[in-house]
Amino acid sequence: MQKSSYTVTAALPYANGPLHLGHIAGVYLPADIFVRFLRLMEQDVLFICGSDEHGAAITLRAKKEGISPQEIVDKYHHLIEKTFADFGIGFDVYHRTSDPLHHKTSSDFFKVLHEKGVFTQEVSNQFYDQDFEQFLADRYITGTCPKCQFEGAYGDQCERCGTDLSPSDLINPLSTLSGKTPQLKETSHWFLPMNEHETWLTEWIQKGILEGVPQHDVSAWKNQVIGQCMSWINAGLKPRAMTRDLDWGVPVPLPNAEGKVLYVWLDAPIGYISATKAWAEKNGKDWKSYWGKTEASERKLVHFIGKDNIVFHAIIFPILLKAHGNFILPDNVPAYEFLNLEGDKFSTSRNWAVWLHEYLAEYPSKVDELKYVLTSIAPENKDAEFTWADYQVRINSELADILGNFVNRTVVLTHKYYEGQVPPCGPLMPVEEALQKKLREIELRIIALLTDYKIREAQQEMMGIARLGNKYLADEEPWKKIKTDPSRVPTILYTSIHITRELARMAQAFLPNTAAKIYHMLNLPNDSWSQPVESLPVGHVLNPAVILFEKITDEVVAYEKAKLIPPSPQSPYPMMKDLIPFDDFVKMDIRLGTVKQAQKMENADKLLLLTVDTGIDERTIVSGIAQHYTPEEMVNKTVVVLMNLAPRKIRGVESNGMLLMAEDHEGKLSALVSDKGFEAGPTIG
Ligand code: 2FM
Ligand code: ZN
Repeated sequence: MQKSSYTVTAALPYANGPLHLGHIAGVYLPADIFVRFLRLMEQDVLFICGSDEHGAAITLRAKKEGISPQEIVDKYHHLIEKTFADFGIGFDVYHRTSDPLHHKTSSDFFKVLHEKGVFTQEVSNQFYDQDFEQFLADRYITGTCPKCQFEGAYGDQCERCGTDLSPSDLINPLSTLSGKTPQLKETSHWFLPMNEHETWLTEWIQKGILEGVPQHDVSAWKNQVIGQCMSWINAGLKPRAMTRDLDWGVPVPLPNAEGKVLYVWLDAPIGYISATKAWAEKNGKDWKSYWGKTEASERKLVHFIGKDNIVFHAIIFPILLKAHGNFILPDNVPAYEFLNLEGDKFSTSRNWAVWLHEYLAEYPSKVDELKYVLTSIAPENKDAEFTWADYQVRINSELADILGNFVNRTVVLTHKYYEGQVPPCGPLMPVEEALQKKLREIELRIIALLTDYKIREAQQEMMGIARLGNKYLADEEPWKKIKTDPSRVPTILYTSIHITRELARMAQAFLPNTAAKIYHMLNLPNDSWSQPVESLPVGHVLNPAVILFEKITDEVVAYEKAKLIPPSPQSPYPMMKDLIPFDDFVKMDIRLGTVKQAQKMENADKLLLLTVDTGIDERTIVSGIAQHYTPEEMVNKTVVVLMNLAPRKIRGVESNGMLLMAEDHEGKLSALVSDKGFEAGPTIG
């Protein structure tokens, strides 16, 4: 491998929740393996990450938990940072986008682009919540999906059918803040006219050429990445707003821009640059040499991301970097597909997830086991699936039975026959010569695969070394030859120790803790990959054998699977909704009311038109209970009324409030009544 230098980034996770296995398998573990590989090859590499702390993902979560956005990002930033450290992901720096250094960096970056005339300022109509006096981020608007009719679609995407939407596509859009229909209001924003960049982007993505100068090897890019970029470009890139009306984020550094912040997808990737600055300041380096374009620099920028981030890293960020000037563009954007869990998508709200910090708390000594399994199923080219049964099989029959067993036998036999000393190697037989050759071939294949970001196959090759070792021991049977052909045994054990060392050497990229344990047993310092290992010193004393992997029991599998099942699997009722803060609860005005009049609505089988005395007024409520109560049954009935639900027109009649009913699992409704005979007026709360 040619000497080169790398700036490797891993997508900044949103600081709005803990990390689960899906995040790890599809970004951070592949990036970490790649970086370990580069370091073993003695390449110069800087590995960057940090928390993505702006945007609606954060403010929505803050609203859900009833705390401020800053409190949310503080909570999750520290949890995520610690989880990465405990899992041994070796970032040089883990930064965060709420840091003042990042605010300054992204603000200055924006100013340069603005001064260069990269943006166009445009006035457009955007949804505005009049009660809350704020413009609504796309995620703050819900409505019916025009494609699949799902009623809970968001203004940026329908989570049922996956269609990308804009708020104006939604049928019956509602603000998630007030629950009311938002109004369109004029606002002015800075747009990136992406359409103006199609020509150079096409040449750069398809041929790896920028302004006539070859940049990167396109054959090293994944087909999905090139394919997705080209389908965006071929469909025609559209101008995209680079600012938002929000009170959380990096303020737009221009006059007359109060209440506006940078679009989170503008500031987040600049977070890689801020992180580099933070690291460089601390380590007395020049950050520019990690991003800058110099004649001497061979620096390669590599972005590890999930597939949903492709457009931002392979189109938008390169446009920004190029427009700014003096920045290298990515050499590669290895994007990963998604990981599913036990047949379903990861879901925070349904608790269908394996949280990494919980795994690490439960199994602190099983870090490499999880890394091994996740790398074995890495979603490189298609979505993959994690199951606890598969976790058990891979650990028991691969790690323990093959890798652990080979190392253990080698070290134990050396202690048994030679008091732990490396025996002298006699003349090599053809079997040992063939082994040496195979080891060298495996090593070269691993390097080639990792250069190509193929971590799954590379790890399989590493396991091939343990397989070779096991087969060699099984064929040579030193435990028999010690009696029948004792002069061969030193060579067999010498060779086995050599294979063990090769195994540890290659395992450093994938299973760093295991590699360290093997090196400790061998009593040798770690080897690099950039030169061949030296011969084993004869007489060198090994440490005693330790068990590398314990078997995973059926009980562990059953326990973990049980944790995934929602709390009351037998209940036909839906899961509890997300917790709400007390303040949200007290916003609801609920009272008892007495129905004064009731009649069927024309042409509506399900609706009754009710006049309800609420103790403070008489109001009209349209209620969907006609298949459960006749008008006669409802008259004089005391009911529970949600008073301050925003008025809605139903079949041309304005309904003021809502009757609250209990609904059983078959959809039967029952009016709620007071057990003390209360009538209209009393409040509920
Ligand atoms: O999709 C995400 O989780 C984003 N937070 C990734 C940001 S990557 C980069 F741009 F910072
Ligand atoms: Zn849909």
